[in-house]
Amino acid sequence: MPADCPVHASVLPVEVLELLAPKPGETWVDCTTGGGGHTRPIAERVGPTGRVIALDQDPTMLALARGQLDGLPVELVHANFDQLTEVLAARGFVQVNGVFADLGFSSDQLARADRGLSFRADGPLDMRLDPTGGATAADLVNRMSEAALADVFWEFGEERHSRRVARRIVERRAATPFATTADLADVVRGCVPRAGGIDPATRVFQALRIAVNDELGALDRLLAALPKLVKPGGRVGVISFHSLEDRRVKQALRTATVWRPVTKKPVEAGAEETARNPRARSAKLRIAERIEPNSEVTDDRSHRR
Ligand SMILES: C[S@@+](CC[C@H](N)C(=O)[O-])C[C@H]1O[C@@H](n2cnc3c(N)ncnc32)[C@H](O)[C@@H]1O
Repeated sequence: MPADCPVHASVLPVEVLELLAPKPGETWVDCTTGGGGHTRPIAERVGPTGRVIALDQDPTMLALARGQLDGLPVELVHANFDQLTEVLAARGFVQVNGVFADLGFSSDQLARADRGLSFRADGPLDMRLDPTGGATAADLVNRMSEAALADVFWEFGEERHSRRVARRIVERRAATPFATTADLADVVRGCVPRAGGIDPATRVFQALRIAVNDELGALDRLLAALPKLVKPGGRVGVISFHSLEDRRVKQALRTATVWRPVTKKPVEAGAEETARNPRARSAKLRIAERIEPNSEVTDDRSHRR
């Protein structure tokens, strides 16, 4: 395998292509290209007369994707997907045929200790998915108040021991500020009891990553922009990995005057895929079609009128 081959295994690849159903000549957006695992089949489907605009906030992922998408009609763009309206306008597009997002981080980012995303490998306490700017996880744990840290651990990690962890962090940083992932993981493991098979640092790391990257804020802004950006008959698909994300996607795609769900329930990976790719276990894919602005919507109120 060449050195620049992604290690990330795309989640639900067959279902994404089948349910999004991109067609030759269409224009699509992949909001989270990563190593290009979903971008590639979408680009192959739209073919030479179509186009895929593929975003990632991480320039190292765009460099990885470039090697996988050679010869395909893909434009790679370094941008946060909460800027999608501006990215499309700058290219002369008002609306596209479809938008896809596979949320979170890729296994390639997790595998690099220097990105600071993993509690299993020691590295700088960074966690930024866009390493070109913004506050790092170390900035947050060394500067936020005890109460604000506890809120982050509770809200974004559902960590039951959020207050205890925040207190220990504040005590420890008074002596030595946090600089590495191992440093933080050790402190968390020292005050959160091990439950089941999961590492006690899991929830605190998830919460900090969500806060550092404003992941829920960016998702809310993308979901709010989508109704204007997708053509009638066009489709959106979003894969989420935890309930904080899925709740937002479910809520946004429920607006009956804008979206028609393509599947009744979210699509989940089957036993064969989860055995091969443990990451797929928590994935939920929701797909909806943009309805015509004036099409009839049948709900309880229209019957009563
Ligand atoms: C799960 S990976 C995508 C994997 C890809 N679908 C594949 O199968 O190869 C998520 C990617 O989205 C990027 N990302 C996460 N949030 C983003 C955001 N708000 N804007 C742009 N890119 C984002 C991450 O940097 C990462 O590369």
